Amino acid sequence: MSTQSTPTNVVIVLGTRPEIIKFAPVIRECLDREVPFTLVHTGQHYSPDLDEVFFDQLELPAPDVHLGVGSDSHGKQTAAMLEGVEEVLFDVEPDVVLVQGDTNSTLAGALAAAKLNIEVGHIEAGLRSFDREMPEETNRVVVDHIADYLFTPTSETREYLEREGLSDRIFVTGNTVVDAAHQYADVAAEKSTVLDELGLEPGEFYLLTAHRAENVDQLDRFTSLLDGVAQFADETGREVVYPIHPRAQSRIDAFDLEVPDAIRLVEPLDFLDFLRLESTAALAFTDSGGVQEETCILGTPCVTLRYTTERPETVYVGANCLAGLDPVDIVDAGRQMLGKRPDWDVPFGDGRAAERILDRLTAPTSPTAGAIPAETPQ
Ligand code: UD1
Ligand code: UDP
Repeated sequence: MSTQSTPTNVVIVLGTRPEIIKFAPVIRECLDREVPFTLVHTGQHYSPDLDEVFFDQLELPAPDVHLGVGSDSHGKQTAAMLEGVEEVLFDVEPDVVLVQGDTNSTLAGALAAAKLNIEVGHIEAGLRSFDREMPEETNRVVVDHIADYLFTPTSETREYLEREGLSDRIFVTGNTVVDAAHQYADVAAEKSTVLDELGLEPGEFYLLTAHRAENVDQLDRFTSLLDGVAQFADETGREVVYPIHPRAQSRIDAFDLEVPDAIRLVEPLDFLDFLRLESTAALAFTDSGGVQEETCILGTPCVTLRYTTERPETVYVGANCLAGLDPVDIVDAGRQMLGKRPDWDVPFGDGRAAERILDRLTAPTSPTAGAIPAETPQ
């Protein structure tokens, strides 16, 4: 890839835990190259253990602007972010706005910029679950179609974008989650004391995360998911650690749901502690996008508690299995994945995604004027 030649004034919009983590390598790359940027936090996530802890641990600069939007219905939350980001864009007049992933913050950042004819770069473009009931799927599709730079992680996601007629703006970079995992997995192994704190032996526990609206907001689905994981834990004599997302906790409280004994709820963890659990669990059960990717990267077999995934590469390489929510299927999937040798190839790149993104953004030509430098990092 070319080295930088033109400084670019960037606005970075983020708002949730996974965006903070996956933007961290990009922010670091901007700092290293002295590319001017304005960091805008929408405030979609605000609980310290979903927000501040990551700024501290990943040594990120404090946001330049905090919109303080908080939780609300999709329309109200997105509208408040849209209004707030637009104000910043009037003020800063950036060359490009960068957004990451598929949250409401991603949508608001991209839409505010596109309406002002400011270029949009979408990091982690091209993912598709083909399930429009997921709010994230709508966000992904809309953002990809209004973005000028589609920084897509894999050849699979490039194909999805090509099929949607977006070939002239695709840049295959790998996923910045690989950059983050590479940068922090060894530090986690060295510094994290979470195994001792929770009294866990490597390879002797399962990790669970579940927070998706379509799973935890419906009592029957949430119950089914917990029962399936607990049955597998009972059958195999291991316990399950579930760092609980506040959305899931609020549903447990509202439903007055009794969590099975085999599942231990703990507070959301910081990145190093979470990486440590991901690396040492016998198996991960999840509905998270980032966890499907990270377990694949770290060599831990994964069972996904959903019927679709926008990360099919993890299934193709044998790192992940789509179980759905029926307890029988969850137990079957657990049996299939437990003890699986992690000899798969990681499909999300080589840990240099942020570097490629910055190379592209600071290159002298406009993204739509030239050929696609679709460097594939696999
Ligand atoms: C959002 C994203 C989802 C992503 C997840 C990452 C959308 C549509 N969803 O889901 O794609 O996987 O973030 O974790 O953008 N809450 C708190 N503290 C917080 C944030 C939320 O207590 O800091 C609680 C509130 O009760 C809130 C609920 O969680 O109503 C849901 O929060 P919200 O930001 O709407 O969606 P997430 O489920 O976090
Ligand atoms: N994560 C974390 N602590 C936790 C749970 C998750 O640091 O207790 C990290 C995890 O390593 C991954 C990201 O959060 O990088 C995934 O975020 P989440 O599951 O909230 O969202 P999704 O990826 O599903 O959008």
